Amino acid sequence: MDLSLESIINQKMADVFAQLGLDSKFSTVKVSDRPDLSDFQCNGALALAKSERKNPREIAAMIAGALEKDSAFSKISVDGPGFINMSLKDEFIAADIDKISADSRLGCGEVASPKRLVLDYGGPNAAKAMHVGHLRSGAIGESMRRIEIFAGNEVIADVHIGDWGTPMGMILAEIIRQDGSLEKTTGYDIAAITEFYKKANIRCKEDEAAREEARIITAKLQDKVPEYYNAWQHLRKVSVDAVKENYKELDVHFDLWLGESDAHETCKEIVKLANEKGLSEKDGGALIIRLDEENSKKPMPPVILEKSDGGFTYHTTDIATIKMRVDDLKADEIIYFVDQRQSLHFEQVFAATEKLGTAPGVGLKHIGFGTVNGADGKPFKTRDGGVMTLENLIKISKDKVRESMPTAEESPEYSAEEIEKMVSQVAMAAIKFQDLKNNIASGYVFELEDFAKFDGKTGPYIQYAIARINSILRKAEEKNILPGTVKITNPEERNLALKISQFNNVLMRCEKEKEPSIIADYAYNLAQIFSSFYNTSPIMGETDQTLAASRLRLAKVVRDILKQLLYLLGIEAPEVMLKKSS
Ligand code: ARG
Repeated sequence: MDLSLESIINQKMADVFAQLGLDSKFSTVKVSDRPDLSDFQCNGALALAKSERKNPREIAAMIAGALEKDSAFSKISVDGPGFINMSLKDEFIAADIDKISADSRLGCGEVASPKRLVLDYGGPNAAKAMHVGHLRSGAIGESMRRIEIFAGNEVIADVHIGDWGTPMGMILAEIIRQDGSLEKTTGYDIAAITEFYKKANIRCKEDEAAREEARIITAKLQDKVPEYYNAWQHLRKVSVDAVKENYKELDVHFDLWLGESDAHETCKEIVKLANEKGLSEKDGGALIIRLDEENSKKPMPPVILEKSDGGFTYHTTDIATIKMRVDDLKADEIIYFVDQRQSLHFEQVFAATEKLGTAPGVGLKHIGFGTVNGADGKPFKTRDGGVMTLENLIKISKDKVRESMPTAEESPEYSAEEIEKMVSQVAMAAIKFQDLKNNIASGYVFELEDFAKFDGKTGPYIQYAIARINSILRKAEEKNILPGTVKITNPEERNLALKISQFNNVLMRCEKEKEPSIIADYAYNLAQIFSSFYNTSPIMGETDQTLAASRLRLAKVVRDILKQLLYLLGIEAPEVMLKKSS
């Protein structure tokens, strides 16, 4: 249930506006920019002045007068040109936290009209090692999947593997070059296949004839000529198995493991439809749809539906996949979490879809993310200048985390396996949080020195905050202190309580803006505010038992919210966290 104080006050404001016959469009409050002066503020009177033909201060005074009758407020004032400042009574805030702590959704509501969303993220390519870009897409997509579900939407996540393009033909050509045929293909594992791809890539860069051969084989594959198609099925299976392992380690989930190849039949339908609707034309042997009409705002290159050799393109598979997601999955919205550098691709795909009419009324969104850079501001590479693969990155992160954790010999109560599990949980938290704390659109510099630290704005810091509260809760239980009714007795408790009540609004803003960094920010602030609270407000050392019980309830609800926030970011929270004693 939505128990945020902001929503509760918004409701009160809307009632007062209705009573006074004012347009409720202007009744919205926001958390005060000046917490020293008030808890919430409303600037609606300024906007109303014109239509009401009154001085804004006069309108504000009228609203303030009506609000004063409400016993929830401790102070209401009209300031400056007509700002309304409101503060709540401590008891009102405390009672709200009691409700939040008893609520299974920790004070969060759900979206008013749930939708069915298809989320497209991950997007790894068959036979290629995943790199940091695929990590970003996976981390962001998984987080948004969890956020959308928690907010009440229905989600279908599809990995959309790149398994149907020229690279497939390149690998098959390379195998034939080495073995003379494709007979041995089914015996090759992922390492061997990746190796073939690397060789093919170098060859095709230098040699036009090799490129041509790869194109011909790709076309045969797409025609499902058995010799090529059967060999390809093995490539695909082995690749998907490898990718599944990777995503399992990252705790990134998909409902569907479809790929470009699964859109093949629908690609044919798209071509047919484009022809029937008179949208297609031949252009030097290729079949295209032009998108740059005279009246369109900006010129856009045409999409090629079919190349001159008959093969479908990356555009065609995406256009067809949209049709499938609409027809078969009944998507209300399709959202892509893909590198920003593909934004033109998606603009073209969406424009062509609009013309074809294959997704009427369906929202199509590309949420483009920026690149992960190294300290030099260029795309993140390994020390020797190679591509930063996911495996590499996970290893770097684990090595770093191990430095700050005791070994099994140093902490005899834990087995080596338990410690290694912790290392892995913390390493993943470090990688994912560093990725998610930034705005999606802006790229970021991978902070090799700081990303796994236990202090600062990092995943391990939040995990540590949770483990610390877990330990407080355990100790309290040993001393028979139970969480009890919240009572606000100092500014730190009050501040913490106000922050706790913001969870619903943070979730909803994050859902609306598709921006997990809003959750990451909130988690960091909440953990920090908890820290200042705990420094001034002892629990175990408190002699007043009702106060100790109240503080314990605050601590517990903070722990529950932080855990849920990490869950929404796709991060696990270990029950205990070990730290090397320094
Ligand atoms: N496989 C693509 C790549 O690595 C990303 C796929 C993104 N999703 C999509 N529907 N186009 O660049």
